Formats: sequence, structure tokens, C-alpha cells
Amino acid sequence: MKVGIIGSGGREHAICYSLKKSNNIDEIFCFPGNAGTKKIAENININLSNFEELKNFIISKNIDLIIIGPEKPLVDGLVDFLEENKINVFGPNKIASQLEGSKIFTKNLCKKYGIPTANFGVFFSEVDAIKFLEEAKFPIVVKADGLAAGKGVYICEKKDEAFQATKEIFQGKFGLAKKILIEEFLSGEEMSFFIISDGKTYKTFCTAQDHKRALEGDKGKNTGGMGAYSPSRLESNHLNKKIIEKIIKPTLIGLNDLGTSYVGFLYAGLMIVENEPYLIEYNVRMGDPECQTILPRLKTDFGKVINACINKKLDSIEFDWHDEKSLCIVLCSKGYPDDYINNQEIKNLEKVSLKENEFIFHAGTKAQENKIFSNGGRVLNFVIRSNNFQRNREKAIKIINQIDWHNGFFRKDIGYKVID
Ligand code: AMP
Ligand code: GLY
Repeated sequence: MKVGIIGSGGREHAICYSLKKSNNIDEIFCFPGNAGTKKIAENININLSNFEELKNFIISKNIDLIIIGPEKPLVDGLVDFLEENKINVFGPNKIASQLEGSKIFTKNLCKKYGIPTANFGVFFSEVDAIKFLEEAKFPIVVKADGLAAGKGVYICEKKDEAFQATKEIFQGKFGLAKKILIEEFLSGEEMSFFIISDGKTYKTFCTAQDHKRALEGDKGKNTGGMGAYSPSRLESNHLNKKIIEKIIKPTLIGLNDLGTSYVGFLYAGLMIVENEPYLIEYNVRMGDPECQTILPRLKTDFGKVINACINKKLDSIEFDWHDEKSLCIVLCSKGYPDDYINNQEIKNLEKVSLKENEFIFHAGTKAQENKIFSNGGRVLNFVIRSNNFQRNREKAIKIINQIDWHNGFFRKDIGYKVID
């Protein structure tokens, strides 16, 4: 089988790597990929917003199946477009992708189906939002409705911050904003909960915890994710059951009532408050870096899993997981998530020798004349799997230190809740 993967991050390299091991898969294409995917797949540099061009390429190469990594093409309706053109695709359609594409869509679904989530209000003007904020309890959370690359959420301790956030969103910081969401601040511990679904059946796909803030101690700006570990320390059969019954099942019923179903990975970002799950947000894809943290725990042939989903036969797959724990540290360009410089050569990467439980997944990298250069904010992912989180972290740091790159930084405290 020939498979194509859309995306260029660590998540997509991890997907490529897992597919490469599959007995079913002969050839992999990555659109556009990175220096890591280039070693195991053919990188294709195509404008991803030109669906027509992408379709023509897929047909010309007889690619059997497309997997979409990031949210934007999903929210833009790439799945619907490829399906209309009779191309097999793994990912949710445009309606289902609203779970990530519109926070207000998800909040309304929660309200209608009784899904536990923070209390909220939707405001259609700055004046109305400010009137509400004058009387509100703090901290409070102000959110832009649409996709904002993880930046459209403001946790506001004081009134002034909430006014500022409201102003920035209505002034178009995250694109045209006709409405905003203001919600109650939930205090608890976060957990990322994943399922995979073929539209008929779904199965759980592990839990993880990522570290979104740039600096140690979970301080500094929000990023795409500086590291992660799996499983979450909160995971238990009892909590899993509650999450499925109170959150996942009613969501899938809600989508059915809208005349659609969910195909792909669904990522529930949860806040666990006194052992009760609350939905903070949905993502309609695997997380990054959660994907590169979780996939090394999967023993089952990943190609078979995806193929079963395309054929609506996920019920025939029994998942087999390593019991071991996994931890990922992301090496970033200095300055990220603000300005940083690109095109800095990364040396010694080829000299690192990895054991079968150790992985390096590329993100913002590119290959030129046998050399590797940085090409983004998040650059490399170091993942270790063993029965001890602390050992994983120490080993990942040891490997990072073997690499010669003057422009990198990383958090040394990934997993502190399960280690220190
Ligand atoms: P999101 O982009 O919706 O995942 O939000 C980014 C981060 O903001 C989350 O990972 C949480 O840490 C935090 N957050 C969002 N909504 C809330 C809330 N209602 N209460 C507490 N923290 C929140
Ligand atoms: N790691 C957070 C995300 O993928 O959205």
C-alpha cells in the first residue's frame, strides 16, 4: 500500500516512522515533511491550500490512503474534498472538525448533551463582554472562537487583563472575530485523553500530559508543547469510564444527531477536578508532542490500525501496548515561541546511536547537501520508553547533549509531576 501523510512536524515524523514498520505499507509520501521524514518517505513540497494540486498528485502516484496530521486542513474541509474525489482519507470531516475549529460549537454541544465543562458565556460585542467582566469572579478565561495555534486563550487574574484580552480578540488578533467566549476558570490537573475512531467503533488510544509553557516550572508563554509523558498519572479504569460515559459518548451522539460521524483521532483536553473530568477543549487530531510520545508505546501494526479505520473494521483490531512509560523532550530554537532564527546547522545528529526504546523525531528541520538545518520553533523530539520516567528524562537529556547545535533550548523538568 502507498500512504501519504500531510504535515511537517514531530507528530508526522512519528506517524511516518510507525507506518514504515508496518507489513502493509510499501511506500510513504510526506506533504511537505522534514529532514526526518525525508529518510523514510518521499517529501513532496506542495501548497497545502491548493486542494486540486494535491489531489492530482495523489492520483498520479496511485496513493491508496491519506493521513492528515494537523488541524488546519481538517477544519478547511480537506477530508470532504478528498472523499468527493474517491480518495481514502483518515481524519474527521469538516463538520466534525468544528470540535476544534470553533470553541463555541463545542461549548454548545456540551450544553445540549450535558457534557461537563466550565460554565461559559458567548459575547457578540466588546461592550457586552466588558459589562459582564465588570461583575465577574476572577481568575477568568477569555478565548477566541476559531483556530489560533494555541494562542487564543487568556487566563486572566484581573479585570484589566480580561479587558485587554477581549479588546485584542475583537480587534482581530486571531482573525475576524464576531464573538468571544468567556469561561469559568477550573482549578485541577490537566490530562490529554485520546480515542481513535472509524465512524462506527472507537477505541481508547492512551493518555498523556504535555507541558505547554515555554519555561521550567510551567512558566512563561504558551507554546505548541515543550514535552510530554504517557501515561498521565491520573489514568485509572474508574476515571477512563467516567470520561467515556460523560464526555466521549455524548460527543459522538451529538455528531450523529448532526448527520455525521467521527473518523480519526480525537483528543480531549480535560481538567480533572476532584476525580471528575471536565472538557477544556477538543482537538481533532493527535497532539504534538503527545503523538510522538504515545506511538512508541504501540505494539500493534499501526498501518493495520489505520487501514482498519478506513474500512470501518476497527472492531477487528486488538490493541497491544508496551506497559512501559514514555517521555518526550522537545528541543526548540532559542527565542521560541517568539522570534527565533532559522537555518542554523545541527551537527552530530547522525552520530547518535539509538537503542530500540530510544527515538529522535524531527519537527522543524530541513536537509541540504547532507547537512541538517533548523527550520522552525520546535526542532527535534527526543523520546525514551522504559519502566521509569526519571530514567527516560535523564537519557533524553544525555542524547540532547550529544548534539552540537548552538541555537537550541529545552526544558529539563519535563514530567516533574511524575518524577520529582
Ligand atoms: P486550550 O487552547 O483551550 O487548550 O487552552 C490552553 C490552556 O489554557 C489549557 O491547556 C489550560 O491549561 C488552560 N485553560 C483553558 N481553559 C481553561 C479553564 N476554563 N480553566 C482553567 N484553565 C483553562
Ligand atoms: N500539545 C498540544 C496540541 O497538540 O494541541
